[in-house]
Amino acid sequence: MPFNQAQNFMKFFIDTANLAEIKEAHDLGILDGVTTNPSLMAKEGISGKDNIFRHYKAICDIVDGDVSAEVLSTDFAGMVREGEELAEIDEKIVVKIPMIKDGIKAIKYFTDKGIRTNCTLIFSAGQAILAAKAGAWYVSPFIGRIDDTGGDGLDLVEQIVAIYDNYDLGTQVLAASIRHTNHLIKCAELGADVVTCPLKVILDLIKHPLTDKGLEIFLNDAKKLA
Ligand code: G3P
Repeated sequence: MPFNQAQNFMKFFIDTANLAEIKEAHDLGILDGVTTNPSLMAKEGISGKDNIFRHYKAICDIVDGDVSAEVLSTDFAGMVREGEELAEIDEKIVVKIPMIKDGIKAIKYFTDKGIRTNCTLIFSAGQAILAAKAGAWYVSPFIGRIDDTGGDGLDLVEQIVAIYDNYDLGTQVLAASIRHTNHLIKCAELGADVVTCPLKVILDLIKHPLTDKGLEIFLNDAKKLA
């Protein structure tokens, strides 16, 4: 941990299964973890259990922090079987479980076994309360997808953070479906524990036209100093 870094500052996860992007974010020195989902794995052309597991291992070998790996089953027995296998890949793996009835049961099962979970597809405060009650390590409200339906995803983050702050909960708010820098900045204002976003959103934080213009002026004046 850098000497001037607060231990509880918002963590940056990257939401991708692309190894080059994960490496690029890691090399920036600011990456705290990775989240994946079946759509992101499919985008990379990964298929078949062995290939999927190898890919998760490759991700774990790049990053220092947590790596969310999602179960594909939707029944309790299937989620338990898959989750236990995923957790065996690497200690960085956090088992991602959908917010469904059997998912709650599976989160409680994994919590009791000391296996960490990320409850995904959270679209309401009630779902976030239930996931925390079952012991989820992370809950993932989907900000952008709520905005897409005309709602305000950031309101949900604010509500969940406020509810969790009333109690001494271990569950962390992992704001997902982040589409742009304003989502990320607002999540920091609201006290989200983690944001997960595409690499582009992190790189967009760097950009400002006055920075580019100012640097150009400095570099031109620097020539006079030679
Ligand atoms: O990984 C879950 C979430 O971040 C998905 O985001 O952009 O597909 O809504 P998006």
